[in-house]
Amino acid sequence: MSYSFPVTRTTHPKPRPEDESKLGFARYFTDHMFVMDYDEGQGWHDGRVVPHEPIAIEPASCVLHYAQMMFEGMKAYRTPSGEIQLFRPDMNVKRMKRTNERMCIPDLPDDLLVAAVKAVIKEDIDWVPSAPGTALYIRPFIFGDEVSFSVLPAKHYRFLIILSPTGSYYAANDGGLSATRIFVQDKYIRAAQGGTGYAKVGGNYGGGMRASLDAMKYNCKDVLWLDAAEHKYVEEIGTSNAFFKINGEVITAPLDAGTILPGITRDSVIRLLKKWGVPVSERKLAIEDVFAAQDRGELEEIFASGTAAVISPIGTLNYNGEDHAVADGKVGPLAQRLYDALYGIQTGTVEDDMGWTLPLGLKA
Ligand code: COI
Repeated sequence: MSYSFPVTRTTHPKPRPEDESKLGFARYFTDHMFVMDYDEGQGWHDGRVVPHEPIAIEPASCVLHYAQMMFEGMKAYRTPSGEIQLFRPDMNVKRMKRTNERMCIPDLPDDLLVAAVKAVIKEDIDWVPSAPGTALYIRPFIFGDEVSFSVLPAKHYRFLIILSPTGSYYAANDGGLSATRIFVQDKYIRAAQGGTGYAKVGGNYGGGMRASLDAMKYNCKDVLWLDAAEHKYVEEIGTSNAFFKINGEVITAPLDAGTILPGITRDSVIRLLKKWGVPVSERKLAIEDVFAAQDRGELEEIFASGTAAVISPIGTLNYNGEDHAVADGKVGPLAQRLYDALYGIQTGTVEDDMGWTLPLGLKA
């Protein structure tokens, strides 16, 4: 379907950040956003691009009390020729469907996400950064704002897309990679089987903040979650999926228990490794086996993958207060190779022989 969204331009454009090497993650937001409403009986309607500004929300709205919401994370990149492109947006659409189904949120037409993203980026195209390691982070989200305290799905929703010029979540300021310290969390859990672990919902992250604070006490940037049933198997990192390279094999937690976020970068890493002939398995891995491999000298690398995190090498695991250096605390060669390949494809400096990029037909 072809969409046409009315645009209200801001009368107060903001100054854009001057130094793109110091953007950080989601600290600046662009001038415009996309908004659309859903009413029971009417469906999704009135998509529009409006100035990015605070929105009014009735204090009794269901999302503020029962957290009926979802979000996505994606990025737009500026290629050397000035074309703006997305990375595997079809995967965001698929994940959004699964999250919406889990959260009883009415689904969007399949082609709406990209059309809406394009409409808002068109107004803020000058905000798409081009410095090494940067991208325009795109945060689509939906929340139920029916005034109701019934613990039942809302009858009215809002869908918004906001944009932020951003560096990668853990990256060094120069856009290069730096190794991160991660805290192994064996007290709190992120997601149990049957819960919302595979869905992209705020509650998964809000429930993890207590653990993130604990991690910071040990000077760690984030947590490595273990499984909820036995507190034994590695699952994912607070913001990202986790990969372990042990004796030549790359291992990541499997999706089948429904407790892991099906990361788009995770899937891309697996596909690239298969293409390169690097052995890769989606299987359970006990944290004790990670440390046993380290004792044998077989733990080669650990890295995180995510839209925000891109590829983030892990240089230290802290477990029960004790530091365990991984790859001598340095950036591992496989993490670097994956980062270069992925970010190169995303920004158009490496040929996209996987068919992953979608040029938006917008030129800066
Ligand atoms: C993303 O990578 O897009 C995410 O949503 C992770 C976020 C929690 C920082």
